Amino acid sequence: MQNTQLNRALSHTSTNPGKRLRPQLLQAAARATGNPVSEALAAAPAEAIELIHTYSLIHDDLPAMDDDDMRRGRPTLHVAFDEATAILVGDGLQAKAFELIASEEQLSAQQRIDLVACLAKAAGFEGMVGGQGLDIEATERTLSVEQLKNIHALKTGALITAALVMGGIVGQANPDQKHILKAVGDKIGLAFQIIDDVIDVRSDSTTLGKTAGKDAAAGKSTYVALMGLEAAEAAALALYQESVALIHDWGTEADSLRKLLARMVKRDS
Ligand code: IPE
Ligand code: IPE
Ligand code: MG
Ligand code: MG
Ligand code: MG
Repeated sequence: MQNTQLNRALSHTSTNPGKRLRPQLLQAAARATGNPVSEALAAAPAEAIELIHTYSLIHDDLPAMDDDDMRRGRPTLHVAFDEATAILVGDGLQAKAFELIASEEQLSAQQRIDLVACLAKAAGFEGMVGGQGLDIEATERTLSVEQLKNIHALKTGALITAALVMGGIVGQANPDQKHILKAVGDKIGLAFQIIDDVIDVRSDSTTLGKTAGKDAAAGKSTYVALMGLEAAEAAALALYQESVALIHDWGTEADSLRKLLARMVKRDS
């Protein structure tokens, strides 16, 4: 790449200390099918979903969106560089994600098509981007629980569900397993964003790696604003319990998935 500013911004981004939950979920879901899946086989789609997530955070932090100056314990990209660079890095990461999947020769052509279709839908208007649009419109408004649930399921849940479904595609899950992986994703994805709302209030900026207390200050529609800290946390824990119950009958090959589901809700960052 010729443009050195973009290059520097990209290496700033790629050395980020994110939790990498989505690639881990994808790998764990692939293993949970019980079919032999090497970590290498799932590596490209796992990286791809993390790139889409990272792009979503870079754009989420922009002044026109949430206007945040701290992310993953460091200045946000538009602060460390500038807005144009942050927009372009996000755009480039998105394209790179699809390139990675499309060119992974260890996966069959059908698997690559299914992975691209799943990730694209989850990232776009019917998923993350659609949810982000509703989230921006909901600022300084009081929503019903159903409306807020829809926003959370789209802006955050869709990509988390995609991680599980994509794991199923790589692991050649049977139709029943595919159905269950999607249902697990829908529950834990919503729970994950509810906990994100909870820790925005309960945790501190150093632990979070992003500015604590930002949602209330910005008039965001959150589960905590709508129902209070305790009820929000209880709702997330109930969804988590439902998600593990769905794979109760699965064997030890689902243990890494079970561990991850717990980590998604029992966290302070
Ligand atoms: C934060 O996601 C934004 C949401 C979608 C809730 P993570 O909590 O997974 O952020 P990183 O990747 O670890 O920084
Ligand atoms: C963002 O939700 C979800 C995304 C699609 C990026 P938030 O705006 O609550 O995420 P944080 O708290 O900034 O990480
Ligand atoms: Mg946001
Ligand atoms: Mg934000
Ligand atoms: Mg948040």
